[in-house]
Amino acid sequence: MNARLPPLVHIPAQIAAVADYADYARERMDAAAWAYFSGAAADGITAHENIAAFQRLRLQSRVLKSVADGDTQVKLLGQTLAHPILLAPVAYQRLAHADGELASVLAASAMQAGMIVSAQASVPLEDIAQVAQAPLWFQLYVQHDRPFTAELVQRAESAGYRALVVTVDAPINGIRNIEQRAGFELPPDVEAVNLRGMQPLPAYTVRAGEGSLFESPLVTSAVTWRDIDWLRSLTTLPILLKGILSPRDAEQALDIGVDGIIVSNHGGRVLDTLPAAVDVLPGIVEHVAGRAPVLLDGGIRRGTDVLKALALGADAVLIGRPYLYGLAAAGAVGVAHVLHLLRTELETAMILTGCRTLADVDRQVLWPA
Ligand code: FNR
Ligand code: LAC
Repeated sequence: MNARLPPLVHIPAQIAAVADYADYARERMDAAAWAYFSGAAADGITAHENIAAFQRLRLQSRVLKSVADGDTQVKLLGQTLAHPILLAPVAYQRLAHADGELASVLAASAMQAGMIVSAQASVPLEDIAQVAQAPLWFQLYVQHDRPFTAELVQRAESAGYRALVVTVDAPINGIRNIEQRAGFELPPDVEAVNLRGMQPLPAYTVRAGEGSLFESPLVTSAVTWRDIDWLRSLTTLPILLKGILSPRDAEQALDIGVDGIIVSNHGGRVLDTLPAAVDVLPGIVEHVAGRAPVLLDGGIRRGTDVLKALALGADAVLIGRPYLYGLAAAGAVGVAHVLHLLRTELETAMILTGCRTLADVDRQVLWPA
């Protein structure tokens, strides 16, 4: 186990880009927590591909157009956001920094970023809402205990969360070899506090030669389309589904009245060798055809990546590991700086591709493949 350095109190000049935060974060976490946050499923091929796919795309510059008085504003689900970069739901943030989600929400508030709070947050959802001055959405894993799930939705609604993000791509954990090798376990002082009081799932172990995962309570009680209908009947909040990669799933989601789609492979943490989220995006956007907003996450590390995702039809993007590393390195200041870097880079890329507002961002900003 490496010695943990204390969080930075100011941001050194050496941190010039989001990627620079990784080393500073790593030095401030124990090796097992680092394996949890930076790791991915199996061989990490999808996690790597998310980043590589953005790097393969080329931009097209435009010159001599006036872009004076432009902005990065976006309207989503009736809410106006200053820019299209949201904080993705990331579990257990107190593992990264003592203030956990409270630091992230301060940063989101300061930088006018929307934040999606994980169902597995390590701070009560009401405490996060109390200090928020930015739009908050609540990420829900439909729990095997459905009455408990319904209560959780009510709590989020009463606390002022403005949308429900139902994560549908992780009914079971991925094959987390990287965490396994590092011996990752949650320390006793970090837990999913908002899930306290839930009926425990009956224990079930698949032994060699006996039974199968298909019979496990996790799978037999896993979320299905009927649960999305049920959630629809429980709340008037907009519902987004996170983890859609198939146009047919997008279609079914729209059919049952879902309000938004998040194209995501969960940062490569669930099923390895899925394609990069940005490579799947155009097919989903074409299929959705403007009927609902489409967001994307996975692999955003530069403002140019944000521009590329928007050029391929995303309405907004989410970042996961980048802000988590900012949090581990420097708490709220680190998260705010990550958001500031990405927004400044996005503005730079917009100006140099001749886009005054996000309405100007389309396929023309990409170099033809
Ligand atoms: C996640 N992600 C995630 N998603 C979700 O819906 N609920 C959750 O609790 C978590 N928890 C979580 C923990 C950690 C450590 C990571 C890195 C990710 C997935 C997250 O919302 C997002 O989809 C990815 O992180 C996006 O990829 P990048 O930005 O990390 O490349
Ligand atoms: C993860 C779960 C919490 O990605 O979504 O670790």
